[in-house]
This record gives sequence, C-alpha cells and structure tokens, in this order.
Amino acid sequence: MADLSLSSKIVLNNGVKMPVLGLGVYQVTNGEARTVVKEALDIGYRHIDTAAYYHNERGVGQAIKESGVPRDDVFITTKLWHTDNGYREALAACDRSLKALGVDHVDLYLIHWPRGDRQGAWKAMDRILDEGKARSAGVSNFLPRHLDDIMSASSLVPSVDQVEFSPFLYQKELLSYCRDKGIALEAYSPLTKGRRLNDPRLVALAREYGRTPAQMLLRWVVQKGMAAIPKSVRPERMRENAAIFDFEISAKDEAEMDRFDEGYHTTWDPQDIP
Ligand SMILES: NC(=O)c1ccc[n+]([C@@H]2O[C@H](COP(=O)([O-])OP(=O)(O)OC[C@H]3O[C@@H](n4cnc5c(N)ncnc54)[C@H](OP(=O)(O)O)[C@@H]3O)[C@@H](O)[C@H]2O)c1
Repeated sequence: MADLSLSSKIVLNNGVKMPVLGLGVYQVTNGEARTVVKEALDIGYRHIDTAAYYHNERGVGQAIKESGVPRDDVFITTKLWHTDNGYREALAACDRSLKALGVDHVDLYLIHWPRGDRQGAWKAMDRILDEGKARSAGVSNFLPRHLDDIMSASSLVPSVDQVEFSPFLYQKELLSYCRDKGIALEAYSPLTKGRRLNDPRLVALAREYGRTPAQMLLRWVVQKGMAAIPKSVRPERMRENAAIFDFEISAKDEAEMDRFDEGYHTTWDPQDIP
C-alpha cells in the first residue's frame, strides 16, 4: 500500500485505468470550475468528477483545454441525471454532456441515481460505449438490488459504483458485493462534507500520525483499494488532500476507524429507492 501515489490508478473491469484520487466539483459554478480545475491539474490531479446536474461541465472542459495538459492524460467522469434515465433520453443526455465539456468522449459515464428507467439507461450505456462516447460505464448510488436489476437487463457489468463512503458510513456489504462482481467502488463525500472532521477520535488519531483529519479519511479510503474524489476549491486543501501517499495507517488504527461507522449520510440514502 505504501507505494501508492497521486498517479496510482485502479484498473477497471474493462482494462481502463482510473486515477485513485480525483477532484470533485459539486457545488462549483462554471466560472469557478474554470479556475479550480486548472489549479488541480497544476497540482497534479488527473481525474475530475463532474455531472450534468452540477451545471459546470462547460467550465470543467474549458479548464482542461486551457491547462495545457493533454486531454488523454485527464480522466473525466460525468453523470446522467435521473430525469434522463431511459434509453433515448440517456443517449441525448450523453451528447449534451459531451458538447458542454467540449470533448468527443468521457472516460467514465455514470447513471447518477437508480431512480426511474434505470434498465433503459443501462442499455443505452452499451451503445454509448460502442460509439466511443465513453471509455467505461458505471453507476452511482446503486445498492446490490439496483445493480442486480440492471445486470438482469444487459450483459454489461458496471465498471464503477460511486457511492457515499467514509469511516462514518462504512458500507462493508456493498464493498464486498462489488468486489465479487468486479465493480470498483469510488467514494464520494469522503470528507463527510467537512462535518465529521472535528470528531475527537479522528482528531486524536490524526495527531498521532502528524496528519490532518482530512488526510486520515482519504488515506483510509485508498488503503481499502477504493478511489476517492474529495472536493475543494482551495489549492492549499487540494494539496493537503493529495498528500496521502507517503504514509500508511496501521491495521490496528484502520480497524479503529472502521468502528467510526454510524451509517452517516450527508446525501440522500438510496435505501429509499425501490
Ligand atoms: N454521485 C453522487 O451522487 C455524488 C454526491 C455527492 C458528491 N459527489 C461527488 O463527490 C465529490 C466530493 O463530495 P462532496 O463535495 O459532497 O464532499 P467532500 O469532498 O466530502 O467535502 C467537501 C467539503 O469539505 C471541504 N474541504 C475540502 N478539503 C478539506 C480539507 N482538507 N480540510 C477541511 N475541509 C476541507 C470543502 O470546502 P472547500 O471547497 O471550501 O475547500 C467542502 O466544503 C463532489 O464534489 C462530487 O464530485 C457525488
């Protein structure tokens, strides 16, 4: 584990490589995205997580173009909003996202939520892959029953399930289900949107390691073999969040962090979606 780095990648089930750490840009405007994504690329991030729902694909695309970093060196994820779940709707939404981003393909295209016609949307992913508009396809906020449902409609196995994941929401069963099926788990809101950074147990552990609580949370995720996409609009925090590859949490302390689990969601719980 100690040999992980900011350029470390997870090999997805179709052979595509996804950088283990990315920058999330939820609640970032187009204008801000144009600046912060360039700053992130400058720091060394090569994985950007956006979505049609974030209304900042244009800014993200502009930043990548203006950064001077070759397009093929950046892993771009975007997502299909659930009002576009459905076969024809998903195809059209994908074209809109590519246009906004100003690219001919994304590296990962995700169904954002399992609501509505998810089987139709998943069938559209096959065509999107065939047409080269995405290099890999996956889902977000899917529980095992949602995954079983789409996989019963298509032979395509999602490459990624992006879900809320942190020691405070340690989704152990989902992780082991996804491992069995060859689906990579990607942790969103890995910093609990900042809401548990003052947890006294976390603060005490961070002090022992000479690290920040945010770094402990991110290291915990990548040590479990998952990708993480923390969001920050501040370069100093982007640097802090990327400085997690030169230390390791001991097995004992990782187990202690596992016990922080309190089923804590900062976003909707997909458990409510049939
Ligand atoms: N698929 C989905 O349904 C879904 C849902 C939610 C999120 N996501 C993705 O996951 C990404 C990350 O999740 P998130 O934005 O919800 O939350 P997060 O990454 O857990 O936390 C972001 C918050 O923490 C602050 N922060 C960042 N680094 C920090 C540090 N080192 N120390 C203290 N505070 C820090 C940020 O403020 P500043 O920006 O001011 O630094 C921001 O307020 C999103 O941007 C999005 O791309 C996906």
